[in-house]
Amino acid sequence: MSSSDITQKQTSIGRSNWLLNKDNQKTESPGESSEGTKYYSFNQRESEEESDGRKRNQPATGRESRKMAKTATSSQRQAEPYVPDPAQFERHTNAWGYLQALVPAYPSGYLERQSYESATRTGYLIGRSQNSDFPCDKAEISKQHCLIYMENGSNGIQRGISVYLKDLSSNGTFVNGTIVGANQRILLRSGDRIQLTRRTKYDDDHICNLYYRIILPPKFEVGTFHEEYNCGKILGRGNFASVYQATQKGTTREVAVKIISKSRFDRRPKMLPSVIQEIGILMSLEAHPCIIQIGKVFNEPKYLYLLLEYVRGGELFDYVVRRKKLTELETRFIFLQLFCAIDFLHSRGIVHRDLKPENVLLVDDKTLHVKITDFGLAKMQSGQSPFQSQCGTPNYVAPEILDPTGVRAYGRECDLWSLGVMLYICLCGFPPFNGMDKFSFELSWNELAPPPMKEQIKRGLFEFPEPYWTNIAPEAKDLIRKLLTLDPAKRITAKGALNHEWMQINLEKIDDMCDNVDPFFNEKLRNHHEVDSSGSDLPPTQPMGPSFSTQDF
Ligand SMILES: Nc1ncnc2c1ncn2[C@@H]1O[C@H](COP(=O)(O)OP(=O)(O)OP(=O)(O)O)[C@@H](O)[C@H]1O
Ligand SMILES: [Mg+2]
Repeated sequence: MSSSDITQKQTSIGRSNWLLNKDNQKTESPGESSEGTKYYSFNQRESEEESDGRKRNQPATGRESRKMAKTATSSQRQAEPYVPDPAQFERHTNAWGYLQALVPAYPSGYLERQSYESATRTGYLIGRSQNSDFPCDKAEISKQHCLIYMENGSNGIQRGISVYLKDLSSNGTFVNGTIVGANQRILLRSGDRIQLTRRTKYDDDHICNLYYRIILPPKFEVGTFHEEYNCGKILGRGNFASVYQATQKGTTREVAVKIISKSRFDRRPKMLPSVIQEIGILMSLEAHPCIIQIGKVFNEPKYLYLLLEYVRGGELFDYVVRRKKLTELETRFIFLQLFCAIDFLHSRGIVHRDLKPENVLLVDDKTLHVKITDFGLAKMQSGQSPFQSQCGTPNYVAPEILDPTGVRAYGRECDLWSLGVMLYICLCGFPPFNGMDKFSFELSWNELAPPPMKEQIKRGLFEFPEPYWTNIAPEAKDLIRKLLTLDPAKRITAKGALNHEWMQINLEKIDDMCDNVDPFFNEKLRNHHEVDSSGSDLPPTQPMGPSFSTQDF
C-alpha cells in the first residue's frame, strides 16, 4: 500500500445502488420524496386571482387585516382589536418580503438578506430556538419550525423572485391550511397565511392558529447571474455540477459559483430534490467558521447558479496527496474543525452523508483552516426517523448504509464513520479499506487476498500496518477504532470525539494554530448555539398530510 492509493478521487453516488451502478452517477432510489420548483415572476402572478377574488400578491387591505384581528380578538373578549402592521416596501427597498404577524405576540419583520452576513444565515428561520429570526414560544412549535428564503429567477423573458417556505417541523407547517410536509418546500404567494400549529379543535381563523402572513413587494429588481457577475476560472468539477470562481461586477467581491445544468435533470429527474435540499440546508444554517456559506441563488432557464463563499486553498484531498501524509498535530487541528462542524450540523438535525477529503476545502494551506462543502446529499433528519436511501462514496461509506434495502436504516452516525476513514487517510496517506473489486478478487484465486471493499467495510476489517503506523500515537488509533465501530449505536459521536484523549494532546499548540486563523477562532468554533434536534421536539401530534410541491422546475 502507498499514498498513491488515494490519488484517485472518489465520486459520490447518491440515492442509488452504487454497487450496481457502473457509470457512478447520482440517481435516486424509489421511496425518496421528489420535488420541483416553479418559476414565478411578479408580473405573471399579478394576473392570478385567488379563489376568494383577491389578487394574490396584493398586500392585505385594511379591511382584511381588521377582519383577521376581529377573529383573533373574538376569542379573547378582553383584548383590544389587533390590526397587523401593513407592509411599507417604499421604506424598505431592499426587502423581498414582509412577514406580517397576525397577533401582537409575534413580531413582524422585513426579509432582506440575499446573502450571508457575518454570523447570520441567508434564509429566515421561524421556531422555538433562541437563535431563530422569528422566535415563537409555544411548546407545539419545533425549535426550527420552518425557513423562508428567496431565489432570483428568470424564464428568459421575465424576471422575478421566488420565495419559498421549507417545512422543518415535526408537527407540520401549514400554508393556507394545507400542510407543507417534512422537509418539503412550497412556493409562497403574497398573502399566503403561515400557520405553525393546527389543532382539529380550532378552526383556521382561531387566534390559536394565527401566526403570520407573507406579503411580497409589488416589484423587486433582479438581474441575471451574468449581468451581476463575471465568471472566472474553474475551481472544480463534481458529479453533476461545475464550480467556478466569479467576481461581482463593479466590486472586487469574489464568490464561487456552482453551476448546475438543468438538462442533467432531463435524464435523472429524481436528482432534483438533492439540489433543492442543498439550497434549503445551506440557507438554514447560521454562519459556522468551518462550513461553506451560501449567498444568492439564480434560477434561470438553462442553469441553476448557487453562489457560495469562495475559498482559495483547494481540496483537502489534493493537499494530502501533495504532502503524502500529515503530521498528527496538523491532522488534529483539521479534525478539531471537522468534529466541531459536524457537531454543529448534527445538533441541527443535518446529516452530510458525503464526507470525504474532496468535500473539505482549505481556506489556506498555511493556517490549515478548513471548510466543509457539497451539501448535495445532505438531509435533515426529522425527529428520530432514519434514512433509507443508499448514498455516499464507496471508500467512505458506513457499513449500515450497505445493508440491503428494507433492512437499511441509518442516521447521523454515518458521518462519524466517514470521518474515521478520513482521519486514517490523513495520518498514513492510504485508505483503511482498499478498493479491490469483486472481479479481481475472484481472479486472484488466493484465499489470503483481502475480501472486496464492501465486505471489508461490512466486517470492519482494517489494520494499522507497520511501518506506516509505528510512530503514530496509540490514542490516534483508539479514536479511529471508535469512529470505525460497526455498530452505529456504539460509535463515538462528534462531541465524544472532541473530548477524546487524542484530541487533548498538545493543546497549547492547537490554541496557537487557532490564533493563527483569527484571535477568536477557538471561541467561534465551539461557541455555537446548541439546537439539539435529537428527541427534543415533541412527537408528531397529527399525521403528516400529503405534501404538495410544484413540479415544473
Ligand atoms: N466554495 C468553493 N470554493 C472553492 N472551490 C469550491 C467551492 N465549492 C466547490 N469547490 C470545488 O468544486 C468541486 C466540486 O464541488 P461540489 O463538491 O460542491 O460539487 P458536486 O458536483 O456536488 O460534487 P460531487 O461529485 O462530490 O457530488 C469541489 O470538490 C471543489 O474542488
Ligand atoms: Mg463534491
